Amino acid sequence: MIVGFIGAGKMARALASGLVRGGVITAGRLICSSRTEKSGGPFLNLLPGAKWTSDNEALVTESDLVILAIKPQVFSEVLPTLREGSAGKLFLSLAAGVTLEKIAGWLHSTARVVRAMPNTPMQIGAGASAYAGGAMVTEADYDLVQGILSAAGKAWRVEEEQMDAITALSGSGPAYVFHFIDALTKGGVALGLPEKLAYDLALQTVLGSAELAAGSKLAPLELAAQVKSPRGTTLAGCAVLEEHDALEKLMAKCLAAAKTRAEELAGEKN
Ligand SMILES: NC(=O)c1ccc[n+]([C@@H]2O[C@H](COP(=O)([O-])OP(=O)(O)OC[C@H]3O[C@@H](n4cnc5c(N)ncnc54)[C@H](OP(=O)(O)O)[C@@H]3O)[C@@H](O)[C@H]2O)c1
Repeated sequence: MIVGFIGAGKMARALASGLVRGGVITAGRLICSSRTEKSGGPFLNLLPGAKWTSDNEALVTESDLVILAIKPQVFSEVLPTLREGSAGKLFLSLAAGVTLEKIAGWLHSTARVVRAMPNTPMQIGAGASAYAGGAMVTEADYDLVQGILSAAGKAWRVEEEQMDAITALSGSGPAYVFHFIDALTKGGVALGLPEKLAYDLALQTVLGSAELAAGSKLAPLELAAQVKSPRGTTLAGCAVLEEHDALEKLMAKCLAAAKTRAEELAGEKN
């Protein structure tokens, strides 16, 4: 199997290196494209043996699976040029807010299209991806996509109508967590800790707690309850987060804003 990446940027490199690291494919079976050779350089350096081309149509002809790793804004310019060569091919789009209907409309009527929402921890093989496919997609295609996305983290098959909510949760989610780490650090500094120590403690606390939750049968709030001893410090701290459901309401508002933006993007002419 030859896997072609249209676009050789961050997400293409993240997924391609996951595939090679996970033993799904060798670098010699990967091709990437970009407009300039310079932007293909980091892909080729990361994955020696892979090929680069500026010719998107040639890439499609050569590939069994084409991964669309270009920005949503360039879809309407790039995809119509692939129409003829896309007959009978499988496409996996990583773009936020570009619907299956739009992608299928630009490609040949026999092209099979899957759309995924990955996130940036894919860069270290710890991504959370969800994917949905169009009517032409076969179970074998879904198995292939599951295997491809799982090589760089975890993947879930979903309905396309869930995609905007997923974009708001796991697509944008890494940024919420980075904000939380920053806020925890600043809270520590405000209490007099040196910044570096506050950051290291905040980071390891988030990392360790996520790992603890991942390995536990208990729900997050049950794990929290274990730390809250009666009249203790954690109980006092959590009371602030829980007062009038402050944190829950904040996160609901945050996700709703991101979902609204995802819906707007999906509605815009790409
Ligand atoms: N980064 C994220 O957090 C994230 C998360 C989820 C999904 N995504 C999605 O992943 C996709 C890629 O994002 P990214 O962050 O990897 O973008 P990126 O780093 O900016 O990479 C975009 C790549 O596309 C190439 N390109 C631009 N125009 C092209 C054309 N006409 N033909 C071929 N290649 C072209 C660029 O190179 P040249 O400019 O040299 O052509 C570059 O290699 C986007 O659709 C984004 O929505 C990103």
